[in-house]
Amino acid sequence: MKIHAVYPGSFDPVTNGHVDLIQRSATLFDHVTVAILRNTEKVPLFSVEERIDMLEQAIRGLDNVSVTSFAGLLVDYVEQAQAAVIIRGIRAISDYEYELQMALMNRRLSNKVETVFMLPAESYSFLSSKLVKEIARLGGCIGSFVPADVEKRLYGKFQKK
Ligand code: PNS
Repeated sequence: MKIHAVYPGSFDPVTNGHVDLIQRSATLFDHVTVAILRNTEKVPLFSVEERIDMLEQAIRGLDNVSVTSFAGLLVDYVEQAQAAVIIRGIRAISDYEYELQMALMNRRLSNKVETVFMLPAESYSFLSSKLVKEIARLGGCIGSFVPADVEKRLYGKFQKK
């Protein structure tokens, strides 16, 4: 049986921590779809199209990974994509409470979908899109936190030369 997994998130923007998790997932599952949430209450820095673009560059070379966007309930998207697994990354214990709540709610909403928690490399355990955006906005160095193309686009958003 082939297992299709969905890795959902905002990816605003994708970080090296996300990329690490995608690479790990790609070795475990037959296919991984990275799915960007479209209808979010948060106002994103990057449009969905920009985020798809950055992710597509970041996953180049991973033949069993694709990128898309979705709106509405995650479990509805996962079922419609005929996937069996939701992948979520846990960086630290502080992530766990929210992730547990979401995984159990998703299980209540659909008993056809399992959530699998994965750990990124320890070196990325402090990394988040939110912090990276803040550092870029304030002119700090983000080169080791995001792919080169994302670094360029972030500085572009904040007009750093
Ligand atoms: O990267 P994020 O922002 O932590 O991702 C959160 C995401 C997109 C996985 C979550 O907000 C989500 O699944 N939203 C879709 C709407 C939904 O299904 N809500 C009920 C979750 S229990």
